[in-house]
Amino acid sequence: MFLTICYLSSASDKLTIEDLESLMIEAKEFNNANNIRGVLIYSDQTFFQIIEGEYDKIKLLFEKILKDNRIGIMLSLRYWKESLSKQNIIDLIVDI
Ligand SMILES: Cc1cc2nc3c(=O)[nH]c(=O)nc-3n(C[C@H](O)[C@H](O)[C@H](O)COP(=O)(O)O)c2cc1C
Repeated sequence: MFLTICYLSSASDKLTIEDLESLMIEAKEFNNANNIRGVLIYSDQTFFQIIEGEYDKIKLLFEKILKDNRIGIMLSLRYWKESLSKQNIIDLIVDI
């Protein structure tokens, strides 16, 4: 079973380009190795992310992200979880 999570959150501090680059490298490496797909956007001290993959892996990853001290307030503008029978991140991107 697959799970998709989408959220908007503030960043705890103003992040430098170097901070963002190392976050992206860390995330990409882990996500690729674990067949996790997604989108991560940072602008004006705000993160927008979609992560999708195998249910337990996404659940564990999201728990880590919630505890990450680079995350400020989870704005939950649109935070949703859904059990899916297949990955459909491409459809989600098209829908946005
Ligand atoms: C906004 C945000 C998004 C993140 N997204 C991911 C991600 O998609 N994949 C990932 O492996 N880590 C991501 N991280 C980093 C994790 O929070 C965490 O630092 C990382 O999984 C390593 O945790 P560990 O040292 O406890 O294993 C993100 C962090 C932030 C602040």
